[in-house]
Amino acid sequence: MSNASSHIALTVEEQEISARRIFTTIAAELALVEEEFERQAASDVGVIARISDYLRASGGKRVRPALLLLSVASAGGNAARHNAIRMAAVMEFLHTATLVHDDIIDNAEMRRGAPSINSRFGNTTAVLVGDWLYMTAFETSLQERSLEILEILTAVTRKMVEGELIQLTLLGCADISEEQYLDVLQRKTAYLFSACCEIGAILAGANASEQRALRDYGLNLGAAFQLIDDLLDFTATDEMLGKPAGADLLEGKVTLPLIYLLQRESAYASAVREVMREGSYEGLSRSSLLSAAEESGALDAARERASSLAERARIALAVLPASKYRDALEALPTYITERDS
Ligand code: IPE
Ligand code: IPE
Ligand code: MG
Ligand code: MG
Repeated sequence: MSNASSHIALTVEEQEISARRIFTTIAAELALVEEEFERQAASDVGVIARISDYLRASGGKRVRPALLLLSVASAGGNAARHNAIRMAAVMEFLHTATLVHDDIIDNAEMRRGAPSINSRFGNTTAVLVGDWLYMTAFETSLQERSLEILEILTAVTRKMVEGELIQLTLLGCADISEEQYLDVLQRKTAYLFSACCEIGAILAGANASEQRALRDYGLNLGAAFQLIDDLLDFTATDEMLGKPAGADLLEGKVTLPLIYLLQRESAYASAVREVMREGSYEGLSRSSLLSAAEESGALDAARERASSLAERARIALAVLPASKYRDALEALPTYITERDS
């Protein structure tokens, strides 16, 4: 564990400062998003009101609303306008819907440091709450009267579902290729990041090249984000993540650090298969797997991949005019690749 954390270039304090700077730039708008989230989550159906309250209170980093708002502002729009706030809340709703369904699929008991919806209220309720969140997000987005935005939202939702389905077909497979892995990661996470940025550009009335730049930025940033999430699953603890660490392999998911390890040390394949089959680290401990990944260079190679995606995201921003909002977008890739929770 100490090996893994010694790589982190920023101290915890520095990470907090960098996160605070990014989020402070749009703190007032993010507070409005919380209020909007609360309004959208209100329901006269008692069970929905109770669960959406539970979801809202459990928090989350609010990366997607922040991305949308920073994209609006960096493309010259007003992030405090109600339609920007409303769409930022819609993106968090969509994200929350995917998490609620994802935790059923993954049989996950914890989310954001608290029992997941499925473990607290049962699978049946969780399926329906996820559906309700999706539909509420779409209904709210219709108020924008923009077919362009609706098209982006439907495409991204379809891609996320496809990502989860492709991942299902790959469960338990130890010889998944880097391409297959990256395809799933893009669908599961990167397109939603990209959609947040592109919709921000559209709301700001950005020109075509700025819109493209923000879309590319989001896609690369989102890919880096999921890759780091997968790395943290290897290196972090439950407490740091607010969800079980080491869960990916137990769920049958082979992620990039492991793909790189198996390329370097193919002898680990049978033990890795056994962990997935048994759903337990009894045959191969989590710490010995982590040491092997560290010593073989697999972890560093995966970190390199995340850094190069983050760098590509940063480069895409060059066409935007200089502003404190663009600075915040530029700082996000570093925050994301060096976060430890
Ligand atoms: C979790 O997303 C799912 C992934 C794409 C890895 P976040 O890490 O943004 O989750 P919250 O919203 O902060 O809980
Ligand atoms: C990411 O999937 C969640 C979605 C984008 C739907 P994971 O299963 O890898 O994420 P966590 O680890 O549960 O947050
Ligand atoms: Mg999951
Ligand atoms: Mg999952």
